[in-house]
Amino acid sequence: MPTQTMSLDPAAATAATASQPRLRLRAPRLGDGAHLWRIARDSQVLDLNSSYAYVLWCRDFAATCVVAEDRDGAVVGFVIGYVRPDAPDTLFVWQVAVDAAQRGRGVAADMLNALLDTVADAGITTLETTVAPSNTASRALFAAVARSRGAHLRIVDLFDATDFPDAHEAEQLHVIVPVRRHSQEEK
Ligand SMILES: CC(C)(COP(=O)(O)OP(=O)(O)OC[C@H]1O[C@@H](n2cnc3c(N)ncnc32)[C@H](O)[C@@H]1OP(=O)(O)O)[C@@H](O)C(=O)NCCC(=O)NCCS
Repeated sequence: MPTQTMSLDPAAATAATASQPRLRLRAPRLGDGAHLWRIARDSQVLDLNSSYAYVLWCRDFAATCVVAEDRDGAVVGFVIGYVRPDAPDTLFVWQVAVDAAQRGRGVAADMLNALLDTVADAGITTLETTVAPSNTASRALFAAVARSRGAHLRIVDLFDATDFPDAHEAEQLHVIVPVRRHSQEEK
């Protein structure tokens, strides 16, 4: 396991606010779980997990998550993830969402880049996520993040529709490597 403590660093937060001055990025707190659940619900795209799952995530996995907060302190976006127990150099991004009113302004990319800079310092070299082939926005997001960081993006089939007990689309694994701190010149 990475030995360094992960926490969102001020430099990453400053870079994010440069493109979105009204927003600031930070690690989630316990009380943010309800906001994450609401944003996921309102997306009408994400699998909505139980409210308990989001509250728990904010307690136990805050170091591998980030939220975007507006000037009034409202949470308007989030990335939640975890370090894979079987692959301690890999951050698995579980869900990303941005309030509809804030989309198309680089908020999701800023959140992912800030998180990647932070976890890179703690020994993470690889990002994994799964994306349903129909989710154009999500595909574009991870492609853009890989491109902007000069990283390689690999896409392979992972979960088949038949793996799910309900009407769920197949999910492809997207792998971004290498994850390393983004130098200021690249930002
Ligand atoms: C996916 C989502 C998080 C993107 O958030 P966002 O803040 O609007 O994304 P950004 O503005 O940072 O855009 C990042 C890149 O994705 C592209 N993109 C974003 N939304 C897009 C869309 N609907 N169609 C095509 N490209 C899109 C942007 O053009 C940008 O690429 P570029 O740098 O090459 O121009 C947002 O649409 C959302 O919350 N969707 C619902 C939940 C979801 O599907 N989450 C992903 C699965 S976990």
